[in-house]
Amino acid sequence: MSNSVTIKDKLSRFNKVISVSGDKSLSIRWVLLSSLANGVSKASNLLMSEDVLAAIKAIKKLGIKSKINNNKCEIFGKGLEGYKYKKNIIINAENSGTLGRLILGLLINTKYPIKLIGDKSLSKRDFLRVSDPLSRFGARFELNNNKNLPLTIFGSSQLKPIKFIEKKGSAQCKSSVIFGGIRTSGTTIIKAKKSRNHTELMCKYLKLPISVKKKNNYDEIKVNKAKMIKPINYKIPSDISSSAFFLVLTTLSNNSELKIRNVNINPSRTGIITILKKMGVKIIFQNKRNYKGEKIADLKIKSPKTLKSINCPSELNSGAIDEFLIIFLVAAKAKGVSYFKNLSELNQKESPRLKWAKTILTKMGIKTITTNNSIKIYGNPNLKIKKKIIIKNYLKDHRIFMASVIAALSFGGYWKIFDKDSINTSFPNFMKTIEYLKLDEKKKKYN
Ligand code: S3P
Repeated sequence: MSNSVTIKDKLSRFNKVISVSGDKSLSIRWVLLSSLANGVSKASNLLMSEDVLAAIKAIKKLGIKSKINNNKCEIFGKGLEGYKYKKNIIINAENSGTLGRLILGLLINTKYPIKLIGDKSLSKRDFLRVSDPLSRFGARFELNNNKNLPLTIFGSSQLKPIKFIEKKGSAQCKSSVIFGGIRTSGTTIIKAKKSRNHTELMCKYLKLPISVKKKNNYDEIKVNKAKMIKPINYKIPSDISSSAFFLVLTTLSNNSELKIRNVNINPSRTGIITILKKMGVKIIFQNKRNYKGEKIADLKIKSPKTLKSINCPSELNSGAIDEFLIIFLVAAKAKGVSYFKNLSELNQKESPRLKWAKTILTKMGIKTITTNNSIKIYGNPNLKIKKKIIIKNYLKDHRIFMASVIAALSFGGYWKIFDKDSINTSFPNFMKTIEYLKLDEKKKKYN
């Protein structure tokens, strides 16, 4: 089967209801915490993507069994000290920064050294950002080039709590240190720039010894050693980062409407919604409810008649960090110049996404001015692409593939987009959902 898609036509008007798959951040956190629970944890709507399956394979290496049936999963935890494994095991985090960074927090007391590897993209990413704080608990690390994978973690039986200031707004760094704190006697204190807070909410729901004080610009998190984790039954809500592709597709289409069901609208993840609203898009939350500390709603969106440019406040960056590639597409159609700043973290993702944004927008005929942490986008409300555009991203970044598909369906032209398989890391049903939007009006329900 071909690993590329060719798109020659814009999407015509649609009015549909869809569901997208389970949240990736929650799915990986559920797998990791369940692996230390006392007994059987059950999840439904678990995201069945390569990143989550890599997490399930990782805990299997640590002696923890699981059963998968469609998107339901059971994990047979054996308690906080229940990992059993031979010497010299290798854990492969594949493409997942979340898995690679979070699992290290749980391994700081490992009896035998464990090697952590990843794919080509993950092997280029910075692991010093977690090995640095985790080594202060007492674990030791050997890293490739002093900051990359492969790395080896040497655990300690004499862990000490730490004080950690998290300045990047990285939920992966924060969560890795929270997991370290759960393993360590005494109080670990984290002063963290705001970022997604699923780890804190799941730990609170499990009544683990964690407290969070919300300050203006940061959270103060205190964690103590957990005595026991009870099994976690969880119905994973849909991923706002996957939903975002369709929010943007609707925004860039004419006279279309879309409803997306059961989306996790945790306020630390809704940056895309705030930004789209500021640019003139109407999005409504329906059927709002709480679930185990998280918030869920159905999202309703209509294509706007016009789009305003934005000078995006940096406080919105971490809540929209995975959505910027598609937010830039909205800026490409807005009236005026949009400006996004303090985004150096975008170049730390599966591929350097700020650089990629410039490449894609330039191919589309949009003027940009970029620095290493900012981008100015000169919008063109009448943009119609007529030429051939080829997108081949050698690090196989799933979000570059999906953003390119959304651009092709929104602006026209003749696009050949490579590395379709990359969607399997986060959103295997992406192309199927696109096909559904192309279907005739009568079949309104998806699933
Ligand atoms: C994630 C945190 C974010 C995000 C990633 C998932 C998480 O990364 O980009 O896709 O689940 O904690 P950073 O923490 O590095 O910003």
